[in-house]
Amino acid sequence: MGKLTAAITAVGAYVPNFVLTNKMLEGMVETNDEWIVTRTGIKERRILKPEEGEGTSYLAIRAVENLLEKRKIDPKEIDLVMVATATPDSLVASTAAFVASEIGATNAFAYDLLAACSSFLFGMSTAASYIQSGRYKKVLLIGADKMSSIIDYTDRTTCIIFGDGAGAVLFEPNTENLGLQDEYLRADGSGRKFLGMDAGGSLLPASEETVRNRKHFIYQDGKSVFKFAVSNMADVAVKIMERNNLSHTDVSWLIPHQANKRIIDATAKRMGLDDSKVMINIQRYGNTTAATLPLLLRDYEDQLKKGDNLVFAAFGGGFTWGSIYLKWAYN
Ligand code: UT7
Repeated sequence: MGKLTAAITAVGAYVPNFVLTNKMLEGMVETNDEWIVTRTGIKERRILKPEEGEGTSYLAIRAVENLLEKRKIDPKEIDLVMVATATPDSLVASTAAFVASEIGATNAFAYDLLAACSSFLFGMSTAASYIQSGRYKKVLLIGADKMSSIIDYTDRTTCIIFGDGAGAVLFEPNTENLGLQDEYLRADGSGRKFLGMDAGGSLLPASEETVRNRKHFIYQDGKSVFKFAVSNMADVAVKIMERNNLSHTDVSWLIPHQANKRIIDATAKRMGLDDSKVMINIQRYGNTTAATLPLLLRDYEDQLKKGDNLVFAAFGGGFTWGSIYLKWAYN
């Protein structure tokens, strides 16, 4: 028997029905389709409308239902449910615990993982470590964000970028040396001034003043974040390739966080990959934060083959960033 590795064995995803197009945003803020497409690559994004009265858990549960339709396991077999998110249903009570109960994973423990746009990537590391330890056999990792809940739709610098969505993957033990091979994960707390949400946490609790000053919305110094993202995401992806002796011909797919098409193109270029090897769906969903990577896996699942070399890369608030090398485990 080979050594124990952790492989992704099923994928599911969900996006809400409502489509917010660039044209619609033109009627809300001073912007235009041409600017949004050339600067970001985004054409439309999905929004879970406030009147639906649902939180991030709704998106997460639908994504898991999609996974379970395809991979018919009994939810009672699931050992752990992790929800990677920047927009939990509420503070304190774990969103993952609610999701686990709703999907019938009654034997699982569950918790949330917060690392902004890198939280799904970091969650992959956590999930794989649990599996490799031999202690757990089925770990469900969900990336889900209702970004519309923290977006100021009068702020053109953020409202054009983000969308809502969720994706889920199942990690299971593998003895064919497929699954997660290597990871390089980073963080730099000096970045928190460039991307975040000022109020609502312990540092600046909610008050009349924080609401009046619109401090419960996400802010981003786009230019500064762009500079950090474009160099750091490429650096870690190249490092993972070098460390594992992967040439550009060995890499089957780059699976990049979908924050900006220009950042993705720069990362692919540094890796020596042409467009045909780069997963992209930013044009349809915008930046869904923790959901971008599993949404890509769902959209490209049909094209993946057993043994494919996948390089994941992400960059997000904090700052947090990193890259993971994973061998795909099924056709
Ligand atoms: O997922 C987490 C990590 N996040 C990221 O990686 C995001 C990184 N940053 C970015 O993707 C880009 O910085 C943005 C897409 C956010 C902005 O693109 P940019 O090329 O950096 O534009 P900018 O902020 O430098 O703005 C250029 C111009 C400015 O006007 P002036 O000063 O040149 O007259 C802005 O006021 O574009 C203006 N502008 C807009 N115009 C039309 C800013 N937002 C808009 C808008 N529509 N929505």
